[in-house]
Amino acid sequence: MQWSALWLTVWKVILIFPYSRVSSVAKPSVSQAKYLDYEIGASIHFNMQTFNGTMKSGHVVSPDAFNPTKLSTDQWLRAAKSFGAKYAVLTLDHFSGFLLWPTKTNYSYSVKSSNWRNKTGDVALDFIQSCAKYGIKHAFYYSVNKNWYMNVSNHRAPSSGAQTVYNRIVEQQIRELLNPSSKYANPFLFWFDAGIVSGISPNVVPIFHSLAENIICLKCPASSGIAGARWIGNERAVASLPVWYAVRDGGYNGDPLGEQFRPPFCDTVIREHKWFWLPSTRNRVKNVSTLISEYLTSVGRGCHMILNLNPDPFGLIENEDLHAYKGFGQAIGLLYKDLIITQKNATLKIGVEKVWRIPRILNLANGSVVVMEDVAKFGQLVSEYQLRFNTSHGWVNYPEYGSTIGHKRIHPFPQVLRGKTVYAISFKIVKLVTRDPSITIREVSVYDWTEATRKRYI
Ligand SMILES: *[C@@H]1O[C@H](CO)[C@@H](O)[C@H](O)[C@H]1NC(C)=O
Ligand SMILES: *[C@@H]1O[C@H](CO)[C@@H](O)[C@H](O)[C@H]1NC(C)=O
Ligand SMILES: *[C@@H]1O[C@H](CO)[C@@H](O)[C@H](O)[C@H]1NC(C)=O
Ligand SMILES: *[C@@H]1O[C@H](CO)[C@@H](O)[C@H](O)[C@H]1NC(C)=O
Ligand SMILES: *[C@@H]1O[C@H](CO)[C@@H](O)[C@H](O)[C@H]1NC(C)=O
Ligand SMILES: *[C@@H]1O[C@H](CO)[C@@H](O)[C@H](O)[C@H]1NC(C)=O
Ligand SMILES: *[C@@H]1O[C@H](CO)[C@@H](O)[C@H](O)[C@H]1NC(C)=O
Ligand SMILES: *[C@@H]1O[C@H](CO)[C@@H](O)[C@H](O)[C@H]1NC(C)=O
Repeated sequence: MQWSALWLTVWKVILIFPYSRVSSVAKPSVSQAKYLDYEIGASIHFNMQTFNGTMKSGHVVSPDAFNPTKLSTDQWLRAAKSFGAKYAVLTLDHFSGFLLWPTKTNYSYSVKSSNWRNKTGDVALDFIQSCAKYGIKHAFYYSVNKNWYMNVSNHRAPSSGAQTVYNRIVEQQIRELLNPSSKYANPFLFWFDAGIVSGISPNVVPIFHSLAENIICLKCPASSGIAGARWIGNERAVASLPVWYAVRDGGYNGDPLGEQFRPPFCDTVIREHKWFWLPSTRNRVKNVSTLISEYLTSVGRGCHMILNLNPDPFGLIENEDLHAYKGFGQAIGLLYKDLIITQKNATLKIGVEKVWRIPRILNLANGSVVVMEDVAKFGQLVSEYQLRFNTSHGWVNYPEYGSTIGHKRIHPFPQVLRGKTVYAISFKIVKLVTRDPSITIREVSVYDWTEATRKRYI
């Protein structure tokens, strides 16, 4: 080969390489695709802190303090169902270290050590049975960051010997839960609060690989090879755009070209800002418009939403919260009630506007445009798009260019449409992550929000 020809080849490789890398992007596992489609999950904070709101590190509250005399996990799951949660995560082990199932491991701080139900209670089993009854998947929260009973804080036990004892016990407990013949088997998801520190924390990754291949792990290291999701970084259910689903090099920030698929989740509380029940906090229950606003900044931006439930020391959710969950569920229902137009699997060419006329409705003033990518099939591809409205006052641009879509973006009709009637919407893909000339979009829909607006949910 001539030197000049060689140089040409080298330059071609250098020039083309950055683009050819993006001929494909990270795609979700089957369970991650399901996770995105679920859109909403429930977390249930119920453990020793429910009975002692001031307990802290260095203080082990007696197991007998755990005494939920009216416990109804059915009521919890009905509440979760009322706002559309598809799975529920229960705090089987939270900071106190108290376990909600009667573990057979060498560990004497669990429901088995408590006089509640004469030492025969099993919150985890009640919970799983209620989940099955209401068609909601069960999931577990487990903290390896803190365990006040075992003197673990910031992922560390007081000595290396104590760390070894702690790690072995946690590994046994997780095997006990995930074992295929266990009553607790097949959780949809496992949530390690504050994550797992490799080299220090219990070595749970191989356990998941052998016993729970399809699990979703919240906060497992991205490099673990376990399908997971990453925390969005705040507890207000607000995803900042752009929202990318992939991460690079095991990191936690979204990156369109990242090699691992790790969509974000947006968690939030029902009582501002408490995870566990506390006396005198009923006045902190969020109203429906706040919850809808959080829905729009999470699910509406392609982020998965997790809303908390906090049963009281009787083991029941209070009426104020039940009311808010139900109202939230009904309000979400209203956002999708009046479908005006919908198109599935439309193929859009880059840079070419596609217009959808709004039929029949002559005075559509309040509404939304919902767009979805087919992430399961293609991964996340859209990085810029433009939305415009044909109105009674001519064409109006959406105030800013759209960036990412991912599973779903919800665009409420913007302020600039105030007082105008919308006749048509136009949608144009400006830029994709890949060099493809076109893309098949999973869905473009327009909804009438007149009723939701009249009820002041928006
Ligand atoms: C709750 O925990 C605090 C400190 O951790 C302790 O002082 C208090 O006595 C506990 N209350 C109950 C009812 O156990
Ligand atoms: C159980 O744990 C205790 C310490 O918490 C330890 O002293 C005991 O040897 C352990 N028993 C077994 C059978 O490992
Ligand atoms: C607990 O056991 C006592 C004595 O055996 C019995 O009287 C009581 O009814 C039991 N309580 C429950 C909740 O099973
Ligand atoms: C935790 O620390 C306390 C106070 O130092 C000690 O009494 C207790 O035995 C420790 N617990 C464990 C499980 O090591
Ligand atoms: C809902 O709560 C928020 C925050 O407390 C408040 O600003 C808003 O006015 C409330 N909305 C309604 C409709 O009550
Ligand atoms: C859209 O495409 C998906 C495949 O990604 C397919 O499962 C679905 O049935 C299609 N929907 C319609 C309405 O064509
Ligand atoms: C925009 O709306 C006007 C008024 O209905 C209509 O005449 C025109 O054809 C529309 N344009 C497009 C591109 O839909
Ligand atoms: C939505 O409806 C309200 C009245 O319910 C009205 O004040 C507002 O202007 C409408 N929004 C738009 C974008 O036209």
